[in-house]
Amino acid sequence: MWPYPQIVAHRGGGTLAPENTLAGLRAGLAHGFHAVEFDVMLSRDGVGMVVHDPEFGRTIAGRGSVAGTDAAALAAMDAGSWFSPQFLGEPVPYFTQFIDYCKAQGIWMNVEIKPADGFEADTGAWVANITRDSYAAEIAAGDPARVPLLSSFSFAALAAARDAAPEVPRGYLLDTIPADWQQQARALGAVAIHTNHKHLTPELARDIKAAGYGLFCYTVNDPARGREILAWGVDGFCTDRIDLIGPGFAHI
Ligand code: G3P
Ligand code: MG
Repeated sequence: MWPYPQIVAHRGGGTLAPENTLAGLRAGLAHGFHAVEFDVMLSRDGVGMVVHDPEFGRTIAGRGSVAGTDAAALAAMDAGSWFSPQFLGEPVPYFTQFIDYCKAQGIWMNVEIKPADGFEADTGAWVANITRDSYAAEIAAGDPARVPLLSSFSFAALAAARDAAPEVPRGYLLDTIPADWQQQARALGAVAIHTNHKHLTPELARDIKAAGYGLFCYTVNDPARGREILAWGVDGFCTDRIDLIGPGFAHI
């Protein structure tokens, strides 16, 4: 039912490298991770870039927005030095660079569709189309473990992803689980619910699993909490502490 890895590096390499960068993917690999979550947003010219915040100011210095800046300009910006001078010049990656790297290294991807306001459908469709085209052979092979899982907090983005490329699986991100979660998940054709572990209860976990959905949590940084929610039936989670919680930690 959950063909994907159990422990996933959050935003690339968690706390060991600047988030959503190739340096993050390298840090994950160095810690044995072959599974990654990251965020994709469209540039002004409609290209998927790996970045979390719609506005500059935190990981990218200065003023401006991702949706207001062309891809080539974003790719030339420094997304590393906010984290440490050692990463000065680490660029904002193209989504296609992440795909190429992850395919070459055998890294499974949970692609979070992170639309800027007003670009929900465009972003969902763009990410789904590129993912379907890039993983056509894996999709045709019928091995779900080799196919990325898309996710989003945006119902509209996931609906557009479903319409553009229904064969690419979708997880619905919900900070808290609403009463009508199953109705929404069914409408999206979602295979999994992704939720904030802080708001999950054993009863909700049981209900979600009993309804046949995968259950994935963000963002678990305490090993004891990780073991607790896995015991509730949670299938997997992402973590910032890739130094503390390794891919096989639940079996230790
Ligand atoms: O995909 C799970 C998690 O990444 C959601 O929160 O803000 O870290 O993208 P955020
Ligand atoms: Mg995310």
